[in-house]
Amino acid sequence: TDYETILVETRGRVGWITLNRPEALNALNSQVMRDIVAAASVFDADEAIGAIVVTGSERAFAAGADIKEMESKSGLEMVMDDHFGQWSRFAEVRTPVIAAVSGYALGGGCELAMMCDIILAADTAKFGQPEINLGVIPGMGGSQRLIRAVGYYKAAELILTGRMMDATEAERSGLVSRVVPAADLLAEAEKTAATIASKSLPSLYAAKAALDTAMETPLAEGLRFEKHVFAALFDTADQKEGMAAFREKRAAEFEGR
Ligand code: HXC
Repeated sequence: TDYETILVETRGRVGWITLNRPEALNALNSQVMRDIVAAASVFDADEAIGAIVVTGSERAFAAGADIKEMESKSGLEMVMDDHFGQWSRFAEVRTPVIAAVSGYALGGGCELAMMCDIILAADTAKFGQPEINLGVIPGMGGSQRLIRAVGYYKAAELILTGRMMDATEAERSGLVSRVVPAADLLAEAEKTAATIASKSLPSLYAAKAALDTAMETPLAEGLRFEKHVFAALFDTADQKEGMAAFREKRAAEFEGR
């Protein structure tokens, strides 16, 4: 498939999506949304892919939704076009997704990172929800996901002031899984993704579904979900292989079934 705004590559069992609109600091216009959603769906349907990495450039992961594209829209158009609607399909990808963030992750860029399962940040990364400076609010999940990531008071301060936080503060706040030197970001992302992709695919899907459920449900309901999904994995060949490999003191060879 041809994509206009991203570069797509497969390395081993890892699918790479690199945002490529350098002239706009990777601002997320509707073509970027279509491209990312399409590429992620293709990877997600491919059992040879066990993890996806989404990254940008050194200067910007993504500087937000494309302000120039949105500026003249009416509220009615935003509703009827469902301008950001397809992003939910990206958030619903079953394959684990790593955001490798260098430079700006602002507005929709921060929200895109928060749709991923792991956020690796270069020490140059800057996160923020600056929509308040534009007379709007986060619109791709930021007001909901940021609170769940960093708690009410940090999220409220960021969303109400629009200020940016650096990688250290983002890690301390719980938004970032790990900070690495900028020069190591892509290698660390590749290593982490390859580690994940070497696991049993059904268990990865189950783990991601359980993590998502934890974000969405009361504890008792989440625990019930976990119990059922945990039990279901005992019908996979990979569970037998994983536990036999432990007993036989060798590395497991998972088949994804
Ligand atoms: C469209 C953008 C853009 C954006 C940058 N550009 N961000 N274009 N939408 N979000 C463009 C600039 O217009 C400029 O193009 C080029 O990228 C380089 O940007 P500069 O501003 O010249 O770079 P710099 O001075 O280094 O400043 C970097 C920056 C700044 C601090 C990141 O660009 C900035 O504040 N950008 C907007 C950040 C933002 O408000 N994001 C939230 C968007 S709203 P030209 O051609 O002019 O030189 C949002 C809502 C999501 O995300 C939810 C839906 C409602």
